[in-house]
Amino acid sequence: MTHPLLYAHEHQPRFLEELKAFLRIPSISAQPVRRPDVEVAAEWLRDQLRAAGFPRAEVLPTGGHPVVYAEWLAAGPDAPTVLTYGHYDVQPPDPALEWLSPPFEPTVRGENLYARGASDDKGQLYAHVKAAEAYCATVGAPPVNLKVIVEGEEEIGSPNLDPFIEAHRELLAADVALISDSHILAPDTPSIVYALRGLAYLQVEVEGPAFDLHSGIYGGAVNNPLNALCRMLAGLQDAEGRVLIPGFYDAVRPLDAAERAELARVPFDREAWLEEAGVSTDWGDPDYTVVERATARPTLDINGIWGGYIEAGAKTVLPSKAYAKMSMRLVPDQDPAEIARLVREHLERVAPPSVSIVVRDLHGGSGAIVDRNSPAMRAAAQAYAEAFGSSPVFVREGGSIPVVATFQRALGIETVLMGFGLPDDRLHSPNEKLYLPNFTRGVDTVIRFFDLLARAGQV
Ligand code: BES
Ligand code: ZN
Repeated sequence: MTHPLLYAHEHQPRFLEELKAFLRIPSISAQPVRRPDVEVAAEWLRDQLRAAGFPRAEVLPTGGHPVVYAEWLAAGPDAPTVLTYGHYDVQPPDPALEWLSPPFEPTVRGENLYARGASDDKGQLYAHVKAAEAYCATVGAPPVNLKVIVEGEEEIGSPNLDPFIEAHRELLAADVALISDSHILAPDTPSIVYALRGLAYLQVEVEGPAFDLHSGIYGGAVNNPLNALCRMLAGLQDAEGRVLIPGFYDAVRPLDAAERAELARVPFDREAWLEEAGVSTDWGDPDYTVVERATARPTLDINGIWGGYIEAGAKTVLPSKAYAKMSMRLVPDQDPAEIARLVREHLERVAPPSVSIVVRDLHGGSGAIVDRNSPAMRAAAQAYAEAFGSSPVFVREGGSIPVVATFQRALGIETVLMGFGLPDDRLHSPNEKLYLPNFTRGVDTVIRFFDLLARAGQV
């Protein structure tokens, strides 16, 4: 009988070909014209789960893109149940012209596989599927009970996921969740994420004159909504990034001295970081280190701003309307809805009476901190150590995976964030990639994690 680890190594070339097929499906959740592709990706994944051995695998409807659900409860009622989560949707590939190979034609260059979704999150979630298959094909079934939920709306803020989870509490009941949708520090420095930031995303619309006006005839006597918007937005933050909205920091759980000391020990190469980000210097609140600013402190960013004339040449115009999209990364215990309310009320207060404004709440998600001392975390750390050859360090993550807080609240379970990406994977950017040795080790780590968890018998 082959060992699951050996099986996974022997079948790696096929796993890669299958992953490429997954990546060829342009399942862009944000674009309505891609709806059929999103559906195809869900069905493709369901079929792969069945082929991997899951006795139950289905595509379940939601109010938006469907959820893929699968389960394999062969380990019996005394064994732990692991709920794995991932997302089969991807970000739009824009700007399309900057890709060296087309975003939906997965291409291997060197040790990397380039494609939209390679790291975020198709490549990573596929490691879970292949780990299950390795057990099926060798010892018959995984040593823990497995439930799988893969959503198709993560990149648009998971508008239908929380209601789905709440309506399926029993179906999804488990002892611990496993998510691979983050990165490790470096190929030889595995890391486990123990905290994630949350997000509040708003759109601001400023309306001035009923139609565009000649800036020579009316300029100086009619307030320009773009000028007004820029003034309002500029006042939200000081030059070092501190947010000036009253109440914004009230709920922030402080970083204690012990945690700061621990974060200061996380390996951080400033030069490499600057290079990776394509900047000449860092920026932000000098009271916090770069690592703290990027992972453990809240932020405010304008994501886009538009209005008026942006075509070739010059046009002397007072635009009728101005728009901005903005988002705040949040930390526990900032509540996204409460932050959205504070920002809306603040903008309404500071808006001059000569324009009218509307602030729309686009989406949000809570940050989370997970328990680092559970048996499941120890099993995860051990699995990484065995697969990567060195023990993982614990880090906070600046990105958001809002389902972690939902699992805590709705299912009462903690999550192990077992990422296999790398910091330079270019998520959401052109030339997204997956470092293939991490994919191989990822499958390895998951196989070992299931085994260690089964042996521990508790989570
Ligand atoms: N995989 C990312 C989350 C992530 C980002 C983990 C960076 C580690 C490092 C995820 O797909 C994502 O992009 N999440 C969104 C969530 C948002 C839409 C609520 C994010 O962070 O912007
Ligand atoms: Zn993403």
